[in-house]
Amino acid sequence: DPDGADGTRRVLLAKPRGYCAGVDRAVIAVEKALETYGPPVYVRKEIVHNRHVVTTLADRGAVFVEETDEVPEGATVVFSAHGVSPQVHSQARERELRTIDATCPLVTKVHQEAKRFARDDYDILLIGHEGHEEVEGTSGEAPQNIQVVDGPGAVDSVEVRDPEKVIWLSQTTLSVDETMQTVAALRERFPAISDPPSDDICYATQNRQVAVKAMAPQCDLVVVVGSKNSSNSVRLVEVALQAGARDSHLVDHAGEIDERWLEGVTTVGVTSGASVPEILVGDVLHWLADRGYAEVEEITTANEKLTFSLPRELKRDMKPDA
Ligand code: F3S
Repeated sequence: DPDGADGTRRVLLAKPRGYCAGVDRAVIAVEKALETYGPPVYVRKEIVHNRHVVTTLADRGAVFVEETDEVPEGATVVFSAHGVSPQVHSQARERELRTIDATCPLVTKVHQEAKRFARDDYDILLIGHEGHEEVEGTSGEAPQNIQVVDGPGAVDSVEVRDPEKVIWLSQTTLSVDETMQTVAALRERFPAISDPPSDDICYATQNRQVAVKAMAPQCDLVVVVGSKNSSNSVRLVEVALQAGARDSHLVDHAGEIDERWLEGVTTVGVTSGASVPEILVGDVLHWLADRGYAEVEEITTANEKLTFSLPRELKRDMKPDA
């Protein structure tokens, strides 16, 4: 038996997993906005890419909309953790909305970089997924200067004005390894390309990938808890497979696990994306325990302590003891 020496069914649980500081802050921002202003509080886009979180907040009076023009004039709107373009801010001003910006500070950092290099008239190659909300928000900071590069395969079609004045930036939730491949391909075409002033792929994305890499070689199956539209969660499945897990699947909750995945499986790895509440991981562990995978060992590769303070505009209005 290549797995547990005695064939004992077991679970390896990756740590860190689940909520990052940016998601925690965004979810609390909506909760506090509901307490402070009373429902309805409008939220532009999914506050974080997790169905459970969105449904729970909707039950408490949050109203999720796609665009600012769906928000009644003068109402309160929260912008999601993924960030928004300056155009969205100006639309909100025109409609006289009260805005609470729950953009993750690490996404804001990439916006600042984009603005700064656009001001210096660089061509900015933003590595990221076409159509993802974060990429749309960041691109909106300097649409004339930014082009999106969606992976190594997209590098050939990139055109720049001056190959001596090019910088790459990235979405915060990409696969670290794939991004390095894209950068290598870009550097081959544009040897003078500049690196971002600091890592754009955020600490939480990196830490969750390191943890799953440490665990995956011992796993027959890795279950990643996360929603299908969650970039960092989808990456965890890819990283698990590349790191040697025999099989890996993304599930929104325990009910989506297929019994057949367990055939011949001794060791199951479990992790979760940065937008996933721990209760959903607990349900998966129960589901596995019911099927004989009761022994759980945590594989820890980092201890995270980072927290972000709530949006200033919200803190100002919160009741002192709220
Ligand atoms: Fe922010 Fe990274 Fe989480 S960018 S929202 S800390 S996944």
